[in-house]
Amino acid sequence: MRNLALVTAALVLVGPFAARAADKPAVDPAKVDAAVIAAFPTAPPEWHSRFVQDETMKECSLHENSPPKAVADAIQKRERARIEYPADGKLVGDWKEGEKLAQSGYGLRFTDYPPRRVNGGNCYACHQLTKAEVSYGTIGPSLLGYGKVRNFSEADTKAVYEKIYDAQAAYPCSNMPRFGANKVLTVDQIKDLVALVMSPESPVNK
Ligand code: HEC
Repeated sequence: MRNLALVTAALVLVGPFAARAADKPAVDPAKVDAAVIAAFPTAPPEWHSRFVQDETMKECSLHENSPPKAVADAIQKRERARIEYPADGKLVGDWKEGEKLAQSGYGLRFTDYPPRRVNGGNCYACHQLTKAEVSYGTIGPSLLGYGKVRNFSEADTKAVYEKIYDAQAAYPCSNMPRFGANKVLTVDQIKDLVALVMSPESPVNK
């Protein structure tokens, strides 16, 4: 038993380094894909595209989320090109709607199919935002006072829009979902979330 544990520990430790040295996956990606698809036998056909990793996800998996600089630069360039801006040029919507979206984890789960309402952003799952909401996750940094400490600057407002639209344009292999690029949220919903984070009236900045 003890030997088995040691061998397992050795494999866990050596595996990633061996893979990185060769710069190719330790396990055949086709096998991984087949296992993932087999794990969701009742998934509707509309979901099958979600089983396939895009180029960025593949690269992040291959490099265990710490890509070398050249790969990171390529990811950033590719993801940046996917960002679409509002037609009217206004990046800030309604923070009250943004707060509802930040609270809502609705969308893309099995129980949400077929969709019955709009997707949420689930921001509180990873971030602190308003003081009033005491239940929040800590995978991402606290966003309490985010706009205020940045003097509500235009450059930071744009950066927040871009961050929510495509988190990997700012930070390759980020754990934050690419809400706009992956069509989880619409441009208008993202504007409402920008308002929640960046507007002086928002409780995030009170
Ligand atoms: C699954 C976790 C997760 C979710 C959900 C998530 N984020 Fe993030 N977010 C992160 C992480 C982790 C970071 C830190 C930087 C990075 O890795 O990209 C981050 C960074 C940010 C930043 C930049 C912070 C800085 O340091 O400048 C903003 C703004 C942000 N998130 C807003 C949001 C909003 C708004 C939502 C909801 C639409 C959201 N996030 C949902 C994980 C998440």
